[in-house]
Amino acid sequence: MLGVSAAAAAGLWAWSRWHPLSFWYGVAFPVRLVRVYLTWRAVASGCKLARTKRAWRVTLDAIPVVGLAARSAASVVEQKRRVRRVSVEQAPRLGLMLPTPYGWRLRVRLHDGQVPEDYVKAAERLAHSWRVHSVRVLKHKPGRITLLATRRDPLIDVVAGGGPADLLVVRPGVLENGEPWVIDFRTVPHWMIVGATQSGKSNLANATIKALAPQPVALIGFDLKGGVEFTPYAPRLSALATTRKESVDLLEDLVGEVEQRMAVCREHGARNIWKLPEALRPVPVVVLVDEVAELFLMADKSEKDEVAKTGTALLRVAQLGRAFGVFLIICGQRIGSDLGPGVTALRAQLSGRVCHRVNDPETANMALGDLDPAALEVARAIAPETPGVAVVAGQDGTWHRARAEYVSESEAEQAARDFSHLAPSWADLIGRLPDIDAA
Ligand SMILES: Nc1ncnc2c1ncn2[C@@H]1O[C@H](COP(=O)(O)OP(=O)(O)OP(=O)(O)O)[C@@H](O)[C@H]1O
Ligand SMILES: [Mg+2]
Repeated sequence: MLGVSAAAAAGLWAWSRWHPLSFWYGVAFPVRLVRVYLTWRAVASGCKLARTKRAWRVTLDAIPVVGLAARSAASVVEQKRRVRRVSVEQAPRLGLMLPTPYGWRLRVRLHDGQVPEDYVKAAERLAHSWRVHSVRVLKHKPGRITLLATRRDPLIDVVAGGGPADLLVVRPGVLENGEPWVIDFRTVPHWMIVGATQSGKSNLANATIKALAPQPVALIGFDLKGGVEFTPYAPRLSALATTRKESVDLLEDLVGEVEQRMAVCREHGARNIWKLPEALRPVPVVVLVDEVAELFLMADKSEKDEVAKTGTALLRVAQLGRAFGVFLIICGQRIGSDLGPGVTALRAQLSGRVCHRVNDPETANMALGDLDPAALEVARAIAPETPGVAVVAGQDGTWHRARAEYVSESEAEQAARDFSHLAPSWADLIGRLPDIDAA
């Protein structure tokens, strides 16, 4: 008997090692499911999600029998039914619990008077009770929520989903729910990527360059940190600005290009470049800006005009670019209004948000402010030991914890070299001689 149990245990252990996913679906999840349902009343009560209700209950009370018989046998008692009002703890009703590769989803019907925020507040307690990495309140219809439990952090070792991507789609890494992290510029055209130093901004830029390099798109870089970040990718860039003067000229060209595209669209009765006949459709342009503050900071008053021009041009590109195939990725340690008057308006155009670890809560607030407060909590909890972990939000208001795959500079450089033949020259792109040196 002992031998059979030992063999079964060894078999299960080997299964869990050999194919963890099928083990999860076949063995571990059913065990968890039974435990979650059986312990739910105690867990809900411990997490302060149950409510106390007064109810009528039938109880069996022991009544000593007084009388002759009782005098002769002191211990005679009689059981009597009584109806009493008692307090009972009632846990919220659970719906179906469904497995995911990293945990499970569980529907919960809210008690009257409860709001999803009650569950957001209780999420950490629930995670401890269920012995999982995290519990997130996913989506809610009136009166219902879905809890997503994640057993272990899928962002520890990140490998981005491979395979060819559609045009203007980048899959830099994974989301906390195990799904691929998808940046689709045609859905969310402009992105703001913030984070303290060494938080993973440049890594995400590397991942983006590596993913876009094989696609028929033009890439443009603004790198006012002296060009150290983007110069190695110059073979795949159609233009690169590394000084303020170059930036002003390049942005002017870019605005001119957008206006030209607008005129073509108007002529053909198209609302955007995707509605143009294929032969006329201009190549999409993805603009990467590293450390945007450098574009706005001025050493002295003489630079004021240039800074103002830069701000206005960037804002115009952002406003018009989405329809005419010019997309922005703007990185910075903070992109606050202290940088200049145009920055708040620019930020409003950047509907895609990626907030890495930040040093001050205001930066997280600025990046994720109008989202669920839980997103801010999660962003503030990102540890320095996990660079690349970020809170990612698209324009539909949903947010995720995510992490890009590690992409070294040399990998991105290699991709830039391998696909250099796909880089249209800036002169060809804008149809005239460039003001600045094309890369
Ligand atoms: N997704 C990731 N996975 C693993 N390691 C990462 C990831 N992102 C960044 N790192 C590590 O963190 C280091 C710093 O990242 P990165 O250079 O991207 O930071 P940054 O935000 O651009 O910093 P700075 O503001 O100083 O330019 C990288 O050298 C890399 O080793
Ligand atoms: Mg950097």
